[in-house]
Amino acid sequence: MAKRLLATLTDTTLFLQEWFANPQRTGSIVPSSRQLAAAMARWLPSDPDSYVLELGPGTGAVTQALLAHGLREDRLVAIERNPKLALLLRQRFPRAQIISGDAWQLDGLLRSRNKPIASVGAVISSLPLLNFSPEEAEALAQKIRAILEPQGTWVQYSYRIHKRRTRGTSRFNLLASKIVWLNLPPARVSVFQK
Ligand SMILES: C[S@@+](CC[C@H](N)C(=O)[O-])C[C@H]1O[C@@H](n2cnc3c(N)ncnc32)[C@H](O)[C@@H]1O
Repeated sequence: MAKRLLATLTDTTLFLQEWFANPQRTGSIVPSSRQLAAAMARWLPSDPDSYVLELGPGTGAVTQALLAHGLREDRLVAIERNPKLALLLRQRFPRAQIISGDAWQLDGLLRSRNKPIASVGAVISSLPLLNFSPEEAEALAQKIRAILEPQGTWVQYSYRIHKRRTRGTSRFNLLASKIVWLNLPPARVSVFQK
């Protein structure tokens, strides 16, 4: 209990520092709550061999929930742009593939792995899409579309809770959407399929 509290405090301090350094890109002043992380992690692919691609994992709150929901660590690939956070994630999840890079380059980054990854069963994204232009969000959505398996899901949260769809999702089908009130601030988790 004390150990978990300490980890939460450390992650919150780190997040705050990164937010001060780059508020636009960090997108949040505190890590996702356990409730938000669990709402995202419910959407794992049914095939245990499918890869899951996490975008913008931050300090790993959602990553941790994905593993707690049964994802094998060796099936997890995550792209985090902040090198300090990517390093922390590599220490925390040594069997996952943590890529320090830009999510908008996901196609090239996944192709250039030792064992190239051609498709994924789910994309779980904490990227602050509202801080990117509609054109940038659309460009990312096209790359997500290309990498997703036919029945794959794109799970995205947003702080604009009155809208079920966030930027870039107009060409996807909306599968589910719900508000998670126990998060700072409350967030809406929406799930899309192509
Ligand atoms: C809202 S925070 C993630 C919160 C995360 N769920 C947690 O609990 O720690 C957004 C994350 O996206 C990352 N990010 C922003 N732009 C990115 C990009 N272009 N590529 C990859 N990661 C990016 C930020 O560095 C930050 O860690």
